[in-house]
Amino acid sequence: MLSPREESLLYALAKERYEGAGAIIDAGAFLGASTLCLGEGLRENPAFQSRKGENLPIWPPIHSYDLFVCPDDEFALRYFPQGTLPGHSIEDSFRRNIRDVSEWVAVHTGDIKKQSWSSGPVELLFVDLAKCWGTNRSVIELFFPALLPGQSLLVQQDFGTPYVPWVHVAMGYYANQFEALGMIGSSTVYRCRETPLSVDLRSIPLSQKLEYANIAMEQIGDQAVPSVVASKGMLLFMEESLEASLSYLREQRPRMAGNALGLEYLDLVDGMVRTWNIGSHLERDMSTKFERLAGEE
Ligand SMILES: C[S@@+](CC[C@H](N)C(=O)[O-])C[C@H]1O[C@@H](n2cnc3c(N)ncnc32)[C@H](O)[C@@H]1O
Repeated sequence: MLSPREESLLYALAKERYEGAGAIIDAGAFLGASTLCLGEGLRENPAFQSRKGENLPIWPPIHSYDLFVCPDDEFALRYFPQGTLPGHSIEDSFRRNIRDVSEWVAVHTGDIKKQSWSSGPVELLFVDLAKCWGTNRSVIELFFPALLPGQSLLVQQDFGTPYVPWVHVAMGYYANQFEALGMIGSSTVYRCRETPLSVDLRSIPLSQKLEYANIAMEQIGDQAVPSVVASKGMLLFMEESLEASLSYLREQRPRMAGNALGLEYLDLVDGMVRTWNIGSHLERDMSTKFERLAGEE
């Protein structure tokens, strides 16, 4: 879920930074908040207003991707009318919520892993569906090669999430291809330096993954420490063992002394890996819950 500052960020990027050189991708549109912010920014963008329609290389400029199905978790279910069940389509709600900007939006419904992109350059890439290795990889494969060196901007909304290590591994791996511009809320913002080639990051050794996560953290600075340090504990759990993860998380506690968010994230991941390990809870399937629903469509 976007914070108000992240909503303002998307609005400002579309209003003040978008030049009309390529598409705006909303990868993970859910009920439309991110698409709406981008569209409202475009409406106030003088360059867009003077060039819109046929004068832009890609029309419509905004491309919104999502499964558009109600997810299987209690938190998300609160956003839907009573009776909406996991797996039900929420595309109508999305379309209703973005109706004021819909003329500028192409809607791509379905699993991102089955989507394609051949419509040209991508000038602004907002990523909010990299919830597991598979979707992280799809975003890299589909859109990274279409980024414009020196111009395109990338927003990684989940960078501040403490249990998505693939995002941190990816941004460390691509540290030379992206200049970090900063972090707002959970979102990190980058400018593309050179076009990144897509690779299968999941298959690299754990030691390298941990190293890339460190590079991603250093590139952003202090603000990145809580989420990246904690997500390395998740990575150790996923690729080594519960014991390795718990012992790492314990070792990190002195480093987080005085850092309330850092301690909170260490506790969160500690709780998640213990729960997942005993296999008694819904969270166990968290990284794949969206895909299970997609499979049931
Ligand atoms: C946190 S929500 C996005 C929130 C949204 N950006 C906003 O502003 O409210 C994450 C979204 O990722 C989508 N998602 C997860 N896995 C996906 C997949 N394999 N293909 C397409 N969308 C996916 C989910 O359907 C969900 O709507």
